[in-house]
Amino acid sequence: MKTIPDFQRRKAAGSPITMVTCYDAATAKILNETSVDALLVGDSCAMVVHGYDSTLQATVSMIETHTQATRRGAPDKVIVADMPFLSYRGSADAATRSVAQLMRAGANAVKVERCRGNAELIGNWVDAGVPVMGHLGMTPQSVNEFGGFKIQARDESAAQTLLDEALELEEAGCFAIVLECIPSHVAERVTDALAIPTIGIGSGPSTSGQVLVLNDLLGMDPGFSPPFARRYMDADQMFSRAVEGYCEDVREGDYPKEGEFRP
Ligand code: KIV
Repeated sequence: MKTIPDFQRRKAAGSPITMVTCYDAATAKILNETSVDALLVGDSCAMVVHGYDSTLQATVSMIETHTQATRRGAPDKVIVADMPFLSYRGSADAATRSVAQLMRAGANAVKVERCRGNAELIGNWVDAGVPVMGHLGMTPQSVNEFGGFKIQARDESAAQTLLDEALELEEAGCFAIVLECIPSHVAERVTDALAIPTIGIGSGPSTSGQVLVLNDLLGMDPGFSPPFARRYMDADQMFSRAVEGYCEDVREGDYPKEGEFRP
């Protein structure tokens, strides 16, 4: 996958889309050489990089900096940048300036949480040539409204509302929609009803693709692993072992050795 229109082609071909989060150039450089389709500079960086307990602390300049770094490391990847909490809820002019900031930082598209009150703005950005990814379900910026990070769209009426919103986002011009933490049968229903692809996280196997926070996939945090995130390695342990190995070598006079310094 090289461009935004490829998302649509992938859904049409039934070929699953893969996306992971990325926030820095060193990681982006590694990801640039993998087959992953797209990188998301998510506002999750407020939690996993900056250590806050929610994504509400992310700002446009924070996402701008992480987008610039990610683009420097991954020149070949599709990059989607998150519009942070309330950055699209002031004046339309201010919101559009924030979109411009993230696109100029190197994003190919922006992602916006929720639908209510956003469709007109999204339509204007799409008309101006900015690809927009929607995001429905357990939208983390609404954690206070939801009373925690909880599965959404559990009953029929909430599922129908989510489906209506997904159709509205498609109508507004979104090229894809992230479906986060909703029941698998609801994700399947939404995916079948839309022409555009859905990208799931914690929403089962029937979406057009999957996205994971890279830190969860790598097992960076020993104390945190969402139940839906498969750990493909225990990076926390490998990381600690490497640093302990280095400390031990220094203490035992085994580092640096000949060849590792200039005589
Ligand atoms: O910010 C983020 O990482 C996200 C994903 C969880 C979809 O929005």
